Amino acid sequence: MQRRSWLRHSTLGTAALLALPTTHWAESSPEAVKNAEIRLNANENPYGPSKRVRKALQSMSPFGNRYPWALQQELKNKLARRFDLSPDWFFLGAGSAELLGLLGQYYGSQKRGVVSPSPIFPLLPQYVARHGGQWKQIEMAPDGEIALLAIDQAIDANTKLLYICNPNNPTGWTFSSHALKDYCKTMPKQIDICIDEAYIEYTKEGESASLTELVKENPNLIICRTFSKAYGLAGMRIGYMIAHPDRIKELKEYHTGFELTASAYALRAAIVALDDQEFVHQSRLKNRDAINEMIAFCETLQLPFIPSQANHLAFNPTSLDIPFFAQMEQASIRVGRFPYQGEDWCRLTMGTSREMRAFREKLQDLVG
Ligand SMILES: Cc1ncc(COP(=O)(O)O)c(C=O)c1O
Repeated sequence: MQRRSWLRHSTLGTAALLALPTTHWAESSPEAVKNAEIRLNANENPYGPSKRVRKALQSMSPFGNRYPWALQQELKNKLARRFDLSPDWFFLGAGSAELLGLLGQYYGSQKRGVVSPSPIFPLLPQYVARHGGQWKQIEMAPDGEIALLAIDQAIDANTKLLYICNPNNPTGWTFSSHALKDYCKTMPKQIDICIDEAYIEYTKEGESASLTELVKENPNLIICRTFSKAYGLAGMRIGYMIAHPDRIKELKEYHTGFELTASAYALRAAIVALDDQEFVHQSRLKNRDAINEMIAFCETLQLPFIPSQANHLAFNPTSLDIPFFAQMEQASIRVGRFPYQGEDWCRLTMGTSREMRAFREKLQDLVG
């Protein structure tokens, strides 16, 4: 099937090119974070770090005087075995945010364009724009669906990169892995594709939804992953990029920290966490329960929501006719907020069952 016609068949939603204001939905004042009783705004994993990681970190302090080159290599070797690649396919960072920023700087300084769905985690495309490139945004359909055809039609002569989060933040929308894999395979090789898989472990398919299996045959594909979410290590700051070794080499030229920004603690935590897949599995199960309960709750209150396979659920509280965000702030329940189709939507991170119950009870209270 021709590429365009395949896209037409595989696309459901309608979409339009749109310049939406950027947003910082996870930001809180330090004071708010300090006093927060319930923190459902930053897509963290409430169960991490795992017991095994905590134990391993206890013995790390004597090594704080040494640069962590050996640990860096150990983690790369481990990732290489896991993905059946060689270690030179990996770039480690202090969180995947650092690597997304690096990519933004890399494409932006070439004055090239990035196309992405909207709303999306804005860091990479914002950096492209800040460094002189262009950011074209494709608004998602009302149900959160991202139209691959619309993305495709937005690509022009200046486009060098396509950025997709799968699952998406803040909507939680997730592509079927088949659709996305087929799409990437048909993409002209002169256009790079960055798939941000920060939440991939939470999906129904789990890691098999990942596009990492395609990187060997598709040198234009870049995958960003993190230990901040399902691995429960957001505070450690450790993430990685998988890309063709030539690209990794090029990116090193743009990096300001000799590729040594992940600390010894973070590296050790990641190495141990990779072996603790039971923790990831349990996190995924608890997250799914929390999402299902929240969906049922939204249905009871007749709140529009977007089906999510991530660790957050986006819903529209407008119809409640209460000052939802102000009331949550007052109750020390931190929630995410983002503009979507002219209204303020809530992006709620799944907390523990106690936290989720407290949230629902508070909201139930407010609506009477
Ligand atoms: C889609 C997405 N990518 C990347 C990140 C950055 O995460 P980190 O820097 O903690 O790896 C986030 C954080 O929320 C995110 O939502």
